[in-house]
Amino acid sequence: MKIGFIGLGIMGNFMALNLLKNGVMLNVYNRTKEKAKEHIKKGAIFLDSPKEIAKKSDIIMLMLSDSKAVSSITDGYEGLLEGLDGEKIIINMSTIEPDYSVELYKKIKIKSPSSLFLEAPVIGSKIPAKEGSLIILAAGDKKAYDLSADYFNMMGKMIIYLDNIPKASYLKIINNQIMGITMGALAEGLSLSKKIGIDDNAVYDIVNSGAFANSMFQLKGKNIIDGNYETNFPYKHMQKDLNFAVKLSGEFKAFSPLTSAINNSYILGYDKFKDEDMCAIYKTLNFD
Ligand SMILES: NC(=O)c1ccc[n+]([C@@H]2O[C@H](COP(=O)([O-])OP(=O)(O)OC[C@H]3O[C@@H](n4cnc5c(N)ncnc54)[C@H](OP(=O)(O)O)[C@@H]3O)[C@@H](O)[C@H]2O)c1
Repeated sequence: MKIGFIGLGIMGNFMALNLLKNGVMLNVYNRTKEKAKEHIKKGAIFLDSPKEIAKKSDIIMLMLSDSKAVSSITDGYEGLLEGLDGEKIIINMSTIEPDYSVELYKKIKIKSPSSLFLEAPVIGSKIPAKEGSLIILAAGDKKAYDLSADYFNMMGKMIIYLDNIPKASYLKIINNQIMGITMGALAEGLSLSKKIGIDDNAVYDIVNSGAFANSMFQLKGKNIIDGNYETNFPYKHMQKDLNFAVKLSGEFKAFSPLTSAINNSYILGYDKFKDEDMCAIYKTLNFD
């Protein structure tokens, strides 16, 4: 099997490297070719367009920012859809709107009816991507899942198959809805304690010892206290996912006031902090 991997950003970079580490024959494409240097050195073949990737690979994985990035890869003369024929498997691992995932599935089936499709968004950030310990949520054609599971295991520690699309997209958005609210809670607590004049480290110690202690409080709490906003999960992607959660809540008539509030806070600092880590929500709260 030849795997094609498109999108070598924060996550895709390490996911593709883990496939290579496991001896997979890999074709790669990224809009910015520079980011493929390491992969080429390790044996990957860089192809000049998504169309070429589709032609020369059996399974094609996408790990891109959002639905706009996905459509710029799939559509057009040099796009992935142009190169599809036969029983190829397309796996979108980017987090995108559930509706767009369904649209993508339809586009693929219209262009190449025997192609198979999975959506497979991931949970876990830069470090789990590097360590191959992501949680991968897959939904779509079962045959595609059976043929791809070995590759998912090279990138993840837990793989969940959820049957029809867009169930995996739904679950991923719910995960990030909870994560975004939790991130906001930590940032607000640290902001208030700073104004009062309570030592940041005391707040850190109590939240990491109490009943609701969690690994995100440990990691992001320390980063905020150290003023370290190096990007693991970009602020802009957290805002994108909270926006999906707000839309889904409306669609399914779920009352989600906390989700709307934290989404609005992320929007407030978007232009300034979009490329920093999601914990820069702390800077939005403290920006004069
Ligand atoms: N980072 C995380 O912690 C994390 C965790 C779980 C899920 N996710 C999700 O995984 C996906 C990727 O995240 P990431 O953090 O790896 O993002 P990223 O570092 O911003 O990388 C985005 C990728 O998309 C490509 N891209 C963006 N716009 C494009 C366009 N118009 N045309 C072609 N290619 C385009 C970029 O190409 P260039 O290199 O040329 O810019 C890059 O390869 C997102 O959907 C995100 O929500 C991220």
